[in-house]
Amino acid sequence: MLHVVILISGRGSNMRSLVERARHYRVVAVVSNKAEAPGLVFARERGIETVVVPREHYASLTAQKEALLSAVKTFHPSLVALAGYMQIIAPNFIAAFSQRIVNIHPSLLPKYPGLDTHARAIAGGESEHGCTVHLVDEGVDTGIMLAQAPCACSSRDTVPELSDRVLEREHVLYPWVLNNIASGDITIGTGIVRYSESAQREAAAKGFRLNMSKDGEAL
Ligand code: GRF
Repeated sequence: MLHVVILISGRGSNMRSLVERARHYRVVAVVSNKAEAPGLVFARERGIETVVVPREHYASLTAQKEALLSAVKTFHPSLVALAGYMQIIAPNFIAAFSQRIVNIHPSLLPKYPGLDTHARAIAGGESEHGCTVHLVDEGVDTGIMLAQAPCACSSRDTVPELSDRVLEREHVLYPWVLNNIASGDITIGTGIVRYSESAQREAAAKGFRLNMSKDGEAL
């Protein structure tokens, strides 16, 4: 069973979905940089260990980020999943969990990295939008793509409408990716992702896009 630590800062609906849909992995802790993050309530109710590492409890941002790294390390996770974690991850954290930190971003990367993705997609006249699960590297939303879930987008959409449509896809895509990593159906090497045939079939059935080259490996 692969052990996962989830990092949140707020609502935590993706964290909840990761917990509820876990088949091949176990969420061993939820860590937040915000003591008031609503998602912590759900985690505690489910008996999952929670840790809060608020910036204001530390003399500096560096000290807070060190504390975050120490807190996560105590759980010895195989994977760290960011789920609405609103803080840049420090380079030493990325090095400590090299190729083992994943994030979900509400756009079809490389389109619309950063914030306000839904408003930008509507203003950009997109006919499709969606979400991406990717590895975390030192850039902002630049790590290697693992899978995407597209959905329709229209200039008549409001931001809440589009956000709800994307979020529904996020809640399916993220646990699907984690379950497939945990079962060995998605494997991550240096700069390369491989998908088993069953992962490829399931992705096609769910309308997910994978990071594929012609020979079944990521470019
Ligand atoms: C989601 O849209 C996710 O893609 C982004 O932040 C939001 C978090 O929402 N990274 P929630 O806290 O999981 O409800």
